[in-house]
Amino acid sequence: MAGMKDIRNIVILTGAGVSAESGIDTFRGGGLWEQHRVEDVATPEAFARDPDLVLRFYDMRREAIQTRVPNAAHFALAKLDREWPGELLIVTQNVDDLHERAGAKRVLHMHGEHLCAWCTACDERSPWTGPLIDRPACPECGAAALRPDIVWFGEMPYRMDEIFEALERADLFVSIGTSGAVYPAAGFVRNAREFGAETLELNLEPSQGTHWFDEAHHGLATELVTAWVDEMLGA
Ligand SMILES: NC(=O)c1ccc[n+]([C@@H]2O[C@H](COP(=O)([O-])OP(=O)(O)OC[C@H]3O[C@@H](n4cnc5c(N)ncnc54)[C@H](O)[C@@H]3O)[C@@H](O)[C@H]2O)c1
Ligand SMILES: [Zn+2]
Repeated sequence: MAGMKDIRNIVILTGAGVSAESGIDTFRGGGLWEQHRVEDVATPEAFARDPDLVLRFYDMRREAIQTRVPNAAHFALAKLDREWPGELLIVTQNVDDLHERAGAKRVLHMHGEHLCAWCTACDERSPWTGPLIDRPACPECGAAALRPDIVWFGEMPYRMDEIFEALERADLFVSIGTSGAVYPAAGFVRNAREFGAETLELNLEPSQGTHWFDEAHHGLATELVTAWVDEMLGA
């Protein structure tokens, strides 16, 4: 990218597209999601109306991600995280753990995590790999009140203050594998621009906000991200 020598602080936003080549369905790309309307499985109203349906849906997703493995894009980002001397933050909308399993450390899950359960009785979060449909007891308080630790539509994403602080300091904002349809993440490119960062999109196709980016490349995440990381590390 132009001006790359001046880049020290990087914020990377990732979406479902970065995990697509690991065999995890994107939101609009088919699979499990297409058998359900979003408002039937991914809203607090849906959970209140039909908790069994919602718990079963997330139990299937939680089980599925554990059979998947990170791909070259996750590994390239983990390498960048390891070797980049400046500030770096991977803000992910993904609820899978493939960034971590690839070795990335500076990861923030703004939409929660499949492998975590949240107790609505005591408010504690516990690591979780099994199903929730049978209403298991909360490891902290014993109440049968666990729900997926997932930010549903209409709920507030996690750690927005930290994200904005990082955007404010960023010299480069990179958006990878996200459709640009889900706010507030879709607005980060404009926030980053206002804060003076350069902006780069890497996605299979132009996202809804593609015109906000200084530069955009379209293709597979495994190819685009590996090439970009090599460029950043001067390989
Ligand atoms: N893996 C996951 O954790 C997962 C999966 C599905 C949905 N979600 C949730 O649903 C919401 C969906 O928003 P989103 O923008 O992340 O996803 P999205 O499904 O709306 O968009 C995915 C984007 O990735 C692109 N894409 C697909 N395959 C690609 C590839 N191989 N390489 C590069 N790009 C590719 C698509 O063209 C699309 O623009 C998020 O809030 C997220 O929490 C998470
Ligand atoms: Zn509890």
